[in-house]
Amino acid sequence: MRYLVTGGAGFIGSHVVDKLLKDSHMVRVYDNFSTGRKIFIQDHFKKKNFELIDADLSNKKILMASMEDIDFVFHLAAHADVRSGINNRFIDHEENLEITHNILEAMCKNKIKQIAFSSTSSVYGDATIHPTPEDYPFHPTSLYGATKAACESYIHAYSSYYDFQSYIFRFVSFLGPRYTHGIIFDVLKKLQQNSKSIKLLSDGSPKKSSLSVFDGIEAMFKIIEKSKDQINIYNIGHTEILTVSEIVNTILQTVNLNRVKKIWLGKESNWKGDNEFVLLSINKLKRLGWKPKKSIKEAITETVLYLTTNPK
Ligand SMILES: NC(=O)c1ccc[n+]([C@@H]2O[C@H](COP(=O)([O-])OP(=O)(O)OC[C@H]3O[C@@H](n4cnc5c(N)ncnc54)[C@H](O)[C@@H]3O)[C@@H](O)[C@H]2O)c1
Repeated sequence: MRYLVTGGAGFIGSHVVDKLLKDSHMVRVYDNFSTGRKIFIQDHFKKKNFELIDADLSNKKILMASMEDIDFVFHLAAHADVRSGINNRFIDHEENLEITHNILEAMCKNKIKQIAFSSTSSVYGDATIHPTPEDYPFHPTSLYGATKAACESYIHAYSSYYDFQSYIFRFVSFLGPRYTHGIIFDVLKKLQQNSKSIKLLSDGSPKKSSLSVFDGIEAMFKIIEKSKDQINIYNIGHTEILTVSEIVNTILQTVNLNRVKKIWLGKESNWKGDNEFVLLSINKLKRLGWKPKKSIKEAITETVLYLTTNPK
Protein backbone atom coordinates (compact mmCIF):
# COMPACT_ATOMS: atom_id res chain seq x y z
CA MET A 1 0.00 0.00 0.00
CA ARG A 2 1.01 3.64 -0.42
CA TYR A 3 1.02 5.70 2.77
CA LEU A 4 1.33 9.42 3.42
CA VAL A 5 2.66 10.06 6.93
CA THR A 6 2.27 13.65 8.09
CA GLY A 7 4.68 14.42 10.92
CA GLY A 8 6.68 11.38 9.82
CA ALA A 9 9.95 12.96 11.05
CA GLY A 10 8.57 13.42 14.57
CA PHE A 11 8.90 11.23 17.65
CA ILE A 12 5.91 8.94 17.04
CA GLY A 13 5.67 9.50 13.27
CA SER A 14 9.20 8.24 12.63
CA HIS A 15 8.38 4.97 14.42
CA VAL A 16 5.26 4.59 12.25
CA VAL A 17 7.48 5.13 9.19
CA ASP A 18 9.94 2.44 10.40
CA LYS A 19 7.10 -0.05 10.79
CA LEU A 20 5.51 0.69 7.39
CA LEU A 21 8.84 0.39 5.59
CA LYS A 22 9.67 -2.81 7.47
CA ASP A 23 6.41 -4.19 6.08
CA SER A 24 7.54 -3.16 2.55
CA HIS A 25 4.96 -0.44 1.98
CA MET A 26 5.60 2.74 0.03
CA VAL A 27 5.94 5.68 2.42
CA ARG A 28 5.81 9.40 1.68
CA VAL A 29 6.69 11.56 4.69
CA TYR A 30 5.32 15.10 4.81
CA ASP A 31 7.03 17.22 7.46
CA ASN A 32 8.20 20.80 7.94
CA PHE A 33 10.81 19.80 10.57
CA SER A 34 9.44 22.31 13.07
CA THR A 35 9.94 19.71 15.82
CA GLY A 36 10.79 16.69 13.67
CA ARG A 37 14.38 15.75 12.96
CA LYS A 38 16.08 14.46 9.80
CA ILE A 39 18.22 12.10 11.88
CA PHE A 40 15.08 10.11 12.84
CA ILE A 41 14.40 9.13 9.23
CA GLN A 42 17.69 9.56 7.39
CA ASP A 43 18.40 5.81 7.30
CA HIS A 44 15.49 5.56 4.84
CA PHE A 45 16.54 8.32 2.44
CA LYS A 46 18.09 5.99 -0.11
CA LYS A 47 15.27 3.44 -0.10
CA LYS A 48 13.24 3.18 -3.29
CA ASN A 49 9.95 2.99 -1.40
CA PHE A 50 10.61 6.15 0.64
CA GLU A 51 9.89 9.76 -0.32
CA LEU A 52 10.19 12.98 1.67
CA ILE A 53 8.25 16.18 1.20
CA ASP A 54 9.86 18.95 3.24
CA ALA A 55 6.97 21.41 3.40
CA ASP A 56 4.33 22.91 5.64
CA LEU A 57 0.87 21.36 5.66
CA SER A 58 -0.64 24.83 5.33
CA ASN A 59 0.56 24.80 1.71
CA LYS A 60 -2.58 23.41 0.07
CA LYS A 61 -1.02 23.10 -3.37
CA ILE A 62 1.87 20.93 -2.18
CA LEU A 63 -0.47 18.98 0.07
CA MET A 64 -2.84 18.22 -2.83
CA ALA A 65 0.04 17.01 -4.98
CA SER A 66 1.48 14.93 -2.12
CA MET A 67 -1.69 12.83 -1.96
CA GLU A 68 -1.49 11.62 -5.52
CA ASP A 69 -1.60 7.78 -5.63
CA ILE A 70 -1.89 7.52 -1.84
CA ASP A 71 -4.11 4.80 -0.31
CA PHE A 72 -3.92 5.65 3.38
CA VAL A 73 -3.06 8.80 5.36
CA PHE A 74 -1.45 8.65 8.80
CA HIS A 75 -2.03 12.16 10.11
CA LEU A 76 0.37 12.62 13.03
CA ALA A 77 1.60 16.19 12.46
CA ALA A 78 0.43 18.59 15.11
CA HIS A 79 1.43 21.27 17.50
CA ALA A 80 2.02 18.77 20.28
CA ASP A 81 3.04 21.13 23.10
CA VAL A 82 -0.05 21.08 25.33
CA ARG A 83 1.26 23.75 27.70
CA SER A 84 1.70 26.64 25.29
CA GLY A 85 -1.97 27.16 24.33
CA ILE A 86 -2.63 29.56 27.17
CA ASN A 87 0.02 31.99 25.90
CA ASN A 88 -0.64 31.48 22.21
CA ARG A 89 -4.34 30.96 21.64
CA PHE A 90 -4.06 30.57 17.85
CA ILE A 91 -1.38 27.97 17.39
CA ASP A 92 -3.50 24.89 18.25
CA HIS A 93 -6.31 26.15 16.05
CA GLU A 94 -4.01 26.71 13.08
CA GLU A 95 -1.67 23.75 13.47
CA ASN A 96 -4.20 21.16 14.57
CA LEU A 97 -7.68 22.05 13.34
CA GLU A 98 -6.95 24.02 10.16
CA ILE A 99 -4.22 21.61 9.08
CA THR A 100 -6.51 18.62 9.68
CA HIS A 101 -9.19 20.34 7.62
CA ASN A 102 -6.64 20.82 4.81
CA ILE A 103 -5.81 17.14 4.97
CA LEU A 104 -9.42 16.01 4.86
CA GLU A 105 -10.07 18.29 1.88
CA ALA A 106 -7.02 17.00 0.03
CA MET A 107 -8.11 13.41 0.77
CA CYS A 108 -11.55 14.15 -0.56
CA LYS A 109 -10.27 15.67 -3.80
CA ASN A 110 -7.80 12.80 -4.29
CA LYS A 111 -10.49 10.20 -3.45
CA ILE A 112 -8.48 8.74 -0.56
CA LYS A 113 -10.68 6.81 1.82
CA GLN A 114 -8.58 5.83 4.83
CA ILE A 115 -7.10 7.95 7.62
CA ALA A 116 -5.50 7.29 10.99
CA PHE A 117 -5.36 10.26 13.35
CA SER A 118 -3.37 10.84 16.55
CA SER A 119 -5.72 12.21 19.17
CA THR A 120 -5.05 12.40 22.88
CA SER A 121 -6.23 11.72 26.42
CA SER A 122 -6.50 15.54 26.70
CA VAL A 123 -9.88 15.43 24.93
CA TYR A 124 -11.37 14.06 28.18
CA GLY A 125 -9.94 16.88 30.34
CA ASP A 126 -10.31 16.28 34.08
CA ALA A 127 -12.32 13.08 33.69
CA THR A 128 -14.14 11.84 36.75
CA ILE A 129 -14.22 8.19 35.67
CA HIS A 130 -10.94 6.26 35.87
CA PRO A 131 -9.91 4.39 33.85
CA THR A 132 -11.64 6.68 31.33
CA PRO A 133 -13.51 4.81 28.58
CA GLU A 134 -13.83 5.93 24.96
CA ASP A 135 -17.47 6.96 25.42
CA TYR A 136 -16.62 9.51 28.13
CA PRO A 137 -17.60 12.99 26.83
CA PHE A 138 -15.15 15.60 25.52
CA HIS A 139 -14.38 18.04 28.35
CA PRO A 140 -10.99 19.46 27.30
CA THR A 141 -9.23 21.89 29.63
CA SER A 142 -6.60 23.01 27.06
CA LEU A 143 -6.84 24.43 23.55
CA TYR A 144 -4.70 21.50 22.46
CA GLY A 145 -7.35 19.07 23.76
CA ALA A 146 -10.16 21.23 22.36
CA THR A 147 -8.69 21.31 18.85
CA LYS A 148 -7.96 17.57 18.91
CA ALA A 149 -11.61 16.97 19.87
CA ALA A 150 -12.67 19.26 17.01
CA CYS A 151 -10.36 17.37 14.61
CA GLU A 152 -12.03 14.13 15.67
CA SER A 153 -15.43 15.67 14.94
CA TYR A 154 -14.30 16.84 11.49
CA ILE A 155 -13.02 13.34 10.75
CA HIS A 156 -16.42 11.96 11.78
CA ALA A 157 -18.25 14.35 9.48
CA TYR A 158 -15.99 13.74 6.46
CA SER A 159 -16.21 9.99 7.08
CA SER A 160 -19.97 10.20 7.04
CA TYR A 161 -20.14 12.40 3.90
CA TYR A 162 -17.50 10.64 1.85
CA ASP A 163 -17.40 7.08 3.25
CA PHE A 164 -13.92 7.40 4.71
CA GLN A 165 -12.77 4.66 7.04
CA SER A 166 -11.12 6.37 9.98
CA TYR A 167 -8.97 5.35 12.92
CA ILE A 168 -8.86 7.74 15.85
CA PHE A 169 -6.22 6.92 18.46
CA ARG A 170 -6.34 8.66 21.83
CA PHE A 171 -2.82 8.37 23.22
CA VAL A 172 -1.56 8.76 26.76
CA SER A 173 2.02 10.13 26.93
CA PHE A 174 4.37 8.06 24.83
CA LEU A 175 7.94 7.32 25.92
CA GLY A 176 10.99 5.82 24.26
CA PRO A 177 13.73 6.47 21.72
CA ARG A 178 13.40 9.80 19.80
CA TYR A 179 11.39 11.34 22.65
CA THR A 180 11.81 15.12 22.28
CA HIS A 181 9.35 16.78 24.64
CA GLY A 182 7.71 16.15 28.01
CA ILE A 183 8.52 15.64 31.67
CA ILE A 184 11.58 13.41 31.19
CA PHE A 185 13.12 15.87 28.76
CA ASP A 186 12.43 18.78 31.13
CA VAL A 187 13.82 17.03 34.23
CA LEU A 188 17.04 15.97 32.48
CA LYS A 189 17.55 19.47 31.14
CA LYS A 190 17.22 20.94 34.63
CA LEU A 191 19.67 18.35 36.00
CA GLN A 192 22.20 19.34 33.34
CA GLN A 193 22.03 22.90 34.64
CA ASN A 194 22.14 21.91 38.31
CA SER A 195 22.75 18.37 39.54
CA LYS A 196 22.50 19.27 43.23
CA SER A 197 18.92 20.49 43.47
CA ILE A 198 15.95 20.56 41.17
CA LYS A 199 12.78 22.65 41.18
CA LEU A 200 9.76 20.63 40.14
CA LEU A 201 6.25 21.65 39.15
CA SER A 202 3.30 20.47 41.30
CA ASP A 203 3.56 18.70 44.66
CA GLY A 204 4.42 15.40 42.98
CA SER A 205 0.96 13.93 43.52
CA PRO A 206 -0.61 14.13 40.01
CA LYS A 207 -0.95 10.69 38.49
CA LYS A 208 -0.20 9.96 34.86
CA SER A 209 -0.25 6.85 32.79
CA SER A 210 2.16 6.50 29.89
CA LEU A 211 3.26 3.92 27.35
CA SER A 212 6.34 2.78 25.46
CA VAL A 213 6.24 4.06 21.89
CA PHE A 214 6.96 0.50 20.69
CA ASP A 215 3.84 -0.79 22.47
CA GLY A 216 1.92 2.19 21.05
CA ILE A 217 2.97 1.41 17.48
CA GLU A 218 1.97 -2.24 17.90
CA ALA A 219 -1.39 -1.12 19.25
CA MET A 220 -2.08 1.17 16.28
CA PHE A 221 -1.31 -1.52 13.73
CA LYS A 222 -3.29 -4.13 15.68
CA ILE A 223 -6.33 -1.84 15.60
CA ILE A 224 -5.99 -1.19 11.87
CA GLU A 225 -5.62 -4.91 11.23
CA LYS A 226 -8.52 -6.05 13.40
CA SER A 227 -11.03 -3.23 13.69
CA LYS A 228 -13.06 -2.74 10.54
CA ASP A 229 -15.84 -0.30 11.48
CA GLN A 230 -16.23 2.87 9.51
CA ILE A 231 -15.05 4.96 12.47
CA ASN A 232 -12.74 3.19 14.90
CA ILE A 233 -11.98 5.04 18.13
CA TYR A 234 -9.49 3.55 20.59
CA ASN A 235 -7.69 4.69 23.70
CA ILE A 236 -4.04 3.65 23.55
CA GLY A 237 -2.52 3.50 27.02
CA HIS A 238 -1.37 1.34 29.91
CA THR A 239 -3.10 -0.26 32.89
CA GLU A 240 -0.32 1.11 35.09
CA ILE A 241 -0.14 4.64 36.47
CA LEU A 242 2.62 6.51 38.36
CA THR A 243 2.60 9.70 40.38
CA VAL A 244 4.77 12.53 39.08
CA SER A 245 6.95 11.93 42.13
CA GLU A 246 7.45 8.27 41.13
CA ILE A 247 8.26 9.33 37.57
CA VAL A 248 10.89 11.79 38.84
CA ASN A 249 12.39 9.18 41.19
CA THR A 250 12.69 6.68 38.33
CA ILE A 251 14.51 9.29 36.24
CA LEU A 252 16.86 10.15 39.12
CA GLN A 253 17.62 6.48 39.82
CA THR A 254 18.48 5.90 36.17
CA VAL A 255 21.01 8.73 36.12
CA ASN A 256 22.34 7.81 39.59
CA LEU A 257 21.31 11.13 41.13
CA ASN A 258 19.04 9.82 43.90
CA ARG A 259 20.42 12.35 46.33
CA VAL A 260 19.42 15.45 44.39
CA LYS A 261 17.41 17.84 46.54
CA LYS A 262 13.86 17.97 45.15
CA ILE A 263 12.04 21.25 45.58
CA TRP A 264 8.36 20.76 44.79
CA LEU A 265 6.86 24.12 43.85
CA GLY A 266 3.38 23.08 44.99
CA LYS A 267 -0.04 22.74 43.41
CA GLU A 268 -0.17 26.41 42.40
CA SER A 269 2.77 25.82 40.03
CA ASN A 270 0.73 23.33 37.96
CA TRP A 271 0.25 24.72 34.49
CA LYS A 272 -3.28 25.67 33.51
CA GLY A 273 -4.92 23.05 31.35
CA ASP A 274 -2.95 20.14 32.79
CA ASN A 275 -4.93 17.07 33.83
CA GLU A 276 -3.88 15.66 37.18
CA PHE A 277 -5.20 12.14 36.77
CA VAL A 278 -4.74 10.44 33.41
CA LEU A 279 -5.61 6.78 33.15
CA LEU A 280 -7.41 5.51 30.07
CA SER A 281 -9.45 2.35 29.85
CA ILE A 282 -7.80 0.02 27.35
CA ASN A 283 -10.38 -2.75 27.60
CA LYS A 284 -11.56 -2.19 24.02
CA LEU A 285 -7.99 -2.48 22.75
CA LYS A 286 -7.23 -5.51 24.90
CA ARG A 287 -10.19 -7.30 23.35
CA LEU A 288 -8.29 -7.19 20.03
CA GLY A 289 -5.53 -9.27 21.63
CA TRP A 290 -3.08 -6.47 22.49
CA LYS A 291 -1.42 -5.70 25.79
CA PRO A 292 1.60 -3.57 26.69
CA LYS A 293 4.90 -5.42 26.91
CA LYS A 294 6.91 -2.83 28.85
CA SER A 295 6.13 -1.44 32.29
CA ILE A 296 6.02 2.35 32.59
CA LYS A 297 9.21 2.27 34.67
CA GLU A 298 11.01 0.31 31.92
CA ALA A 299 9.81 2.82 29.35
CA ILE A 300 11.03 5.75 31.49
CA THR A 301 14.45 4.11 31.92
CA GLU A 302 14.72 3.47 28.19
CA THR A 303 13.84 7.11 27.47
CA VAL A 304 16.38 8.45 29.96
CA LEU A 305 19.10 6.24 28.48
CA TYR A 306 18.18 7.40 24.98
CA LEU A 307 18.28 11.08 25.96
CA THR A 308 21.54 10.82 27.87
CA THR A 309 23.29 8.98 25.03
CA ASN A 310 21.76 11.20 22.32
CA PRO A 311 22.09 14.70 23.74
CA LYS A 312 20.44 17.35 21.59
N1 LIG B 1 4.02 12.28 22.31
C1 LIG B 1 2.93 12.02 23.01
O1 LIG B 1 3.04 11.55 24.15
C2 LIG B 1 1.56 12.26 22.44
C3 LIG B 1 0.44 12.07 23.28
C4 LIG B 1 -0.82 12.30 22.75
C5 LIG B 1 -0.98 12.65 21.40
N2 LIG B 1 0.12 12.84 20.63
C6 LIG B 1 -0.06 13.23 19.23
O2 LIG B 1 0.72 12.37 18.41
C7 LIG B 1 1.23 13.08 17.27
C8 LIG B 1 2.73 12.96 17.21
O3 LIG B 1 3.28 13.51 18.40
P1 LIG B 1 4.85 13.55 18.65
O4 LIG B 1 5.06 13.46 20.10
O5 LIG B 1 5.51 12.59 17.74
O6 LIG B 1 5.16 15.06 18.23
P2 LIG B 1 6.35 15.64 17.36
O7 LIG B 1 6.35 17.11 17.62
O8 LIG B 1 7.59 14.87 17.60
O9 LIG B 1 5.84 15.34 15.89
C9 LIG B 1 5.04 16.21 15.14
C10 LIG B 1 5.64 16.28 13.74
O10 LIG B 1 4.81 17.08 12.93
C11 LIG B 1 5.61 18.00 12.19
N3 LIG B 1 4.77 19.16 11.92
C12 LIG B 1 4.15 19.94 12.83
N4 LIG B 1 3.44 20.92 12.22
C13 LIG B 1 3.60 20.73 10.88
C14 LIG B 1 3.14 21.42 9.73
N5 LIG B 1 2.36 22.51 9.83
N6 LIG B 1 3.51 20.98 8.51
C15 LIG B 1 4.31 19.88 8.41
N7 LIG B 1 4.77 19.20 9.46
C16 LIG B 1 4.44 19.61 10.68
C17 LIG B 1 6.80 18.28 13.11
O11 LIG B 1 7.94 18.77 12.44
C18 LIG B 1 7.03 16.92 13.73
O12 LIG B 1 7.89 16.13 12.93
C19 LIG B 1 0.73 14.52 17.43
O13 LIG B 1 -0.46 14.63 16.70
C20 LIG B 1 0.44 14.64 18.91
O14 LIG B 1 -0.54 15.61 19.15
C21 LIG B 1 1.39 12.67 21.11
